[in-house]
Amino acid sequence: METLQERIKEASSLEALEKIRVEIFGKKGLLAAEFAKLKDVPGPEKKAFAEGLNHQKSALQETFESTLAALKAVALEEQLVAETIDVSLYGNLGEKGALHPVAQTMDKIIDYFVALNFSVETGPLVEDDFHNFEALNLPKHHPARDMQDTFYFADGGLLRTHTSPAQIRTMLKEKPPIRMIAPGAVFRRDYDLTHTPMFHQVEGLVVEEKGKVSFANLKAILTDFLHHMFGDVEVRFRPSFFPFTEPSAEVDISCIFCKGSGCRVCSHTGWLEVLGSGVVDPNVFKAVGYENVSGYAFGLGVERFAMLMHEIPDLRSLFEGDIRLLEQFR
Ligand code: DAH
Repeated sequence: METLQERIKEASSLEALEKIRVEIFGKKGLLAAEFAKLKDVPGPEKKAFAEGLNHQKSALQETFESTLAALKAVALEEQLVAETIDVSLYGNLGEKGALHPVAQTMDKIIDYFVALNFSVETGPLVEDDFHNFEALNLPKHHPARDMQDTFYFADGGLLRTHTSPAQIRTMLKEKPPIRMIAPGAVFRRDYDLTHTPMFHQVEGLVVEEKGKVSFANLKAILTDFLHHMFGDVEVRFRPSFFPFTEPSAEVDISCIFCKGSGCRVCSHTGWLEVLGSGVVDPNVFKAVGYENVSGYAFGLGVERFAMLMHEIPDLRSLFEGDIRLLEQFR
C-alpha cells in the first residue's frame, strides 16, 4: 500500500491520476479486490481486517484528493498562462471609413453659414414647374430655361435642376427676415469631365426689411466665405445674368493652381468661377407674396469646390466609388 501512495503522488497529469484512480478505487480495482477477501477471513479477525482496510482506503483517498487538487491548480495555472491577453498590444482596428470628399466639402460650407446663424433648409428632389422655374422668374418659354437641361416626368414633374426652389419653399412657409442655406442634390442632362447628371449645390438666401441689405452685404459675406474655403485668394465679382436676381454677378477667385498667372485649369485666364449670386429680383418676391423686403441670394456647385480644393481633374471619378481614390480622403 505504501507504493500505492507513491504512485498516486507521482501522477504527472490529471489523465494519469484518473487512470490510477480507476485502478485503485474502481469497481474492479485493487481496493475492491481486498474487500472481497473479507468473506474468507475467519470470524474473530474480520473486524480488525476490515478496520485495517478502511484505514488504508481513507489514507489513499486523502492522498488522492490532495494530489487531485495540486494537479488541478497546476492545470489552471497553465491555462491562465496560455490564455493570457496582453492588453497593451495594439489591436487590429480593421479598415477605417471616412466621409466622401463631396460630403466633407459640403460640411465645410455648411459650417461657415451655420456659424453665421443661417438655417439649413431642404426641399424635394422631385419638383414642379412652379418652384423650379416659374416662381424664380423663369416663365414658360423663357429662353433662360435652356440654361438647365432638365429631366422631366410624363406628368410634368421634374428633377430639380438647382437648389433655388428651396428658396421659394422657405419663403412660402416663413416670414422675413430669412437667412438660409439649402444644400442638396440636383440633376441635369449633362455628362463630361466637369459635369455629371447628379451633383450637389448649396443655395443661399438672405431677406430683410427693405433697405437693410444690399449688394455690399452680399459682396462682404461671399468674399469672407471664399477665404474660409480657399484661404488667401483674390475674389472678383463679374456682372452676369440670372433670371432670379437683378443685378447678378458671377464670383471668381484667383486661380489656386497658378496664383493668377494662367494655367490649364483656369484656361489661362488666372481666374476660376465658383459662385452665382445677385440681389433678389422683385418678381421672385412677388411670386411668394413678400412686400417691402430686400434680399440677396447665391448658389454654388459643391463638386466644383471639391475638385478645386483637392485638385481632382475628372468630376466623374468622384462617383465611381473607386476605393483607391476615396482612401486619399481619410
Ligand atoms: N441656381 C443657379 C444655378 O443653378 C445658381 C444661382 C445663381 C443661385 C445665382 C442663386 C443665385 O441663388 O442668386 O446655376
